[in-house]
Amino acid sequence: MKKMVLAFLGATLLAACGQNEQKQDSGPAEAEVPGRQLFQSNCAQCHAAKEDRTGPALSGAIGRWGGDTAKMIAFVKNSQQVIATDGENSYAGKLYIKWNKSVMPLHTSLSDAEVMDILRYMDK
Ligand code: HEC
Repeated sequence: MKKMVLAFLGATLLAACGQNEQKQDSGPAEAEVPGRQLFQSNCAQCHAAKEDRTGPALSGAIGRWGGDTAKMIAFVKNSQQVIATDGENSYAGKLYIKWNKSVMPLHTSLSDAEVMDILRYMDK
C-alpha cells in the first residue's frame, strides 16, 4: 500500500514538473515575437490576420500597397491625412469608402519599424 501511494505521488510530481517546464518554454518565446504585443494592444480590437472584422484582414496588407510601404505606414499612423492628401480615387481613399468610412484611430506613437513588425507578424 505504501508503495502504491509513493508511486502515485511520484507520478503526480513528474506530471506537475512537466507542465511547469512547458509553460516556461512557451511564455517568453511567444512574447518575443516582434509585433505580437503591439498588435494585441493597438489593433486586435478591429483587425485579425485572416478574417475581416471592423477593419480588413491584415494578412497580405503589405502586398496590397503595391510596394509603397512608406504610404502604408503613414496610413496606419494617420489614415485620414493620407486619404485627404491622396483623394478618393487612391488606394487609401477607395479602401476607406469600401469600409463605410470607418475611421482608424491615430497611431502616431508607433515607429515605422513597429508598424512593419506588426504587419510582418500578420503575414506569418
Ligand atoms: C477602431 C478600429 C481600428 C483599429 C483599432 C485599427 N484599425 Fe486598421 N483599419 C480599420 C478600418 C475600418 C480600415 C479600413 C480603412 C478605413 O476605413 O480607413 C483599416 C485599414 C487598415 C489597413 C489597410 C489594410 C489594407 O487592406 O490595405 C492597415 C494596414 C491597417 N488598418 C493597419 C492597422 C494597424 C497596424 C493597427 C494597429 C496599430 C490598426 N490598423 C488599428 C480599423 C481599425
